[in-house]
Amino acid sequence: MPATLDKATILDALRPVQDPELQKSLVELNMIRNVEMDGGQVSFTLVLTTPACPLRELIVDDCKAAVGKLPGVNTVTVEVTAETPQFKGNSGGLPDQEGIPGIKHIIAITSGKGGVGKSTVAVNLAVALAQMGAKVGLLDADIYGPNTPNMMGLGSANVAVEQGPQGERLEPPFNHGVKLVSMAFLIDPDQPVMWRGPMLNGIIRKFLYQVNWGELDYLVVDMPPGTGDAQLTLAQAVPMSGAVVVTTPQTVALQDARRGLRMFQQLKVPILGIAENMSYFVPPDRPEVSYDIFGSKGGETTAQELGLPLLGCVPLEIPVREGGDNGLPIVLADPDSASAKALVSIAQQVAARISVLALTGDT
Ligand SMILES: Nc1ncnc2c1ncn2[C@@H]1O[C@H](COP(=O)(O)OP(=O)(O)O)[C@@H](O)[C@H]1O
Ligand SMILES: [Mg+2]
Repeated sequence: MPATLDKATILDALRPVQDPELQKSLVELNMIRNVEMDGGQVSFTLVLTTPACPLRELIVDDCKAAVGKLPGVNTVTVEVTAETPQFKGNSGGLPDQEGIPGIKHIIAITSGKGGVGKSTVAVNLAVALAQMGAKVGLLDADIYGPNTPNMMGLGSANVAVEQGPQGERLEPPFNHGVKLVSMAFLIDPDQPVMWRGPMLNGIIRKFLYQVNWGELDYLVVDMPPGTGDAQLTLAQAVPMSGAVVVTTPQTVALQDARRGLRMFQQLKVPILGIAENMSYFVPPDRPEVSYDIFGSKGGETTAQELGLPLLGCVPLEIPVREGGDNGLPIVLADPDSASAKALVSIAQQVAARISVLALTGDT
């Protein structure tokens, strides 16, 4: 073995390898750790900026190729872990916001109107992130239709309430790797929405600050439709890493989405991108055809017009609805389906954009 093979040589070989999204050297980003050598066997840890990194394989391959080229190296073993960087707040963000200790990122899933699949996207995003190894919570802030408990298989769960020194604390139920609190756990389903309204601000604050969330990489918030009090309360209370706008390809849905989007922009919450849902329908008995039930290309056009990324297009598939009804989200029930793949890809892009934002302040 040549005498030149030491840790410094290995780090030098890795120095030109960049994180494709951050466009900086992995070594300079401190993403390469624990370099070890044993004869011609080299091993190190690659610390990604999110467990949901979409480019994981590519980065590992680049690292292996760079080190494998060194004379004397026979095998390269890369252990992959992740440390999600903490969100530091937006410049120009609202005053008096109070972050939640232990929670690195809060992500709002929003839309201009109901029924576009916001909860479906929120639930599947949360579960997909958890599947990839992230610590995830889901806050259902929809006072009109709090249906994430059913979608998460927690329809009959209760939040345990404990009395601590600082008052009441809620213990969130947990399923599919995700901790959940929902309006459904606290409000009487038969109570008219007009009575629920004034409780909203208090409940959202309780859900943020009086829940045993523990350490979370991501807290996903399923918002009620529109541009109302819940959005305002949330944006005023906590610094949010970003919002995902869900829409269908329909023109009216897109007009609503634009309104929702503008509200978050005014609240200085970065828009991570647009997720188009119910993009097309493939009949189960005729997989060779595809119907654009709600029009086509709406999400793409809006994304282009507004200079935002289109994070993905989720088809209308019967098992997505069944997964919602049965409490087994499609990303778990049928990971190979087109909708599950689109949802996982959306989750990865959201995670990647949030990491870039946290590290550079730029999406
Ligand atoms: N891609 C999809 N394919 C099939 N059904 C869907 C899809 N997205 C949502 N749904 C169904 O449409 C209904 C409304 O979705 P939901 O997520 O509750 O919308 P929102 O939260 O925006 O009101 C639910 O019954 C859900 O299961
Ligand atoms: Mg909903």
